Amino acid sequence: MRIIAPSMLSADFGNLERDTRMIDGSAAEWIHIDVMDGVFVPNISFGFPVFKAIRKASPKFMDVHLMIVEPERYIERFAQAGADMVTFHIEATEHADACIAAARNAGVKVGMSIKPKTPVSVLEKWLPELDMVLVMSVEPGFGGQSFMPHSIDKIRELRALADKCKPDLTIEVDGGISAANAGILFAAGAEVLVAGSSVFGAENPCEAIDKMLAAQ
Ligand code: DX5
Ligand code: ZN
Repeated sequence: MRIIAPSMLSADFGNLERDTRMIDGSAAEWIHIDVMDGVFVPNISFGFPVFKAIRKASPKFMDVHLMIVEPERYIERFAQAGADMVTFHIEATEHADACIAAARNAGVKVGMSIKPKTPVSVLEKWLPELDMVLVMSVEPGFGGQSFMPHSIDKIRELRALADKCKPDLTIEVDGGISAANAGILFAAGAEVLVAGSSVFGAENPCEAIDKMLAAQ
């Protein structure tokens, strides 16, 4: 399975419907939604009204990445707003079990994310309960940063761990991804690659997506 999830954080917010429809017509199967609260990360992105506008413009799989403290407070509302998957950060909550339960009760898929300095080992006890793990390959907060190469080893380690206790776990990677590193990330065991600036900054975004999907 190879999936590209363009990050709407890099879209033109003055032309949000146009950019969402462009992605809707591309080979990208998912749309990645970055929600930031200015507390968990030093940046504020957008919330429910903007997400709902994106949801209205595309029936594709909405992959919501919460970079907010106490994510357990908002998971149900993102589900109601049309999320298909909600991913929260293990570093942002003391109640990961409540986050997972909130997603399950709301009937959406659930993912857990780790920042670049958080080891894969913290995920072990949660893996059987998760649909996905999101490995951050930049410090969360901003698009357009450089890919951190040690993420590749983390993906390999996570794939090996998941093969033992959660073989159908989806691994997603986010940050600094383009056709230059997509091939090695898929080969390491990732199935979903998030890409913001390499898609929306390209002259031809649909072609940039095709190139990542075909990368060796
Ligand atoms: C960063 C976000 C990413 C970001 C990726 O905190 O989680 O999804 O939009 O942007 P690029 O692909 O430009 O690194
Ligand atoms: Zn993200």
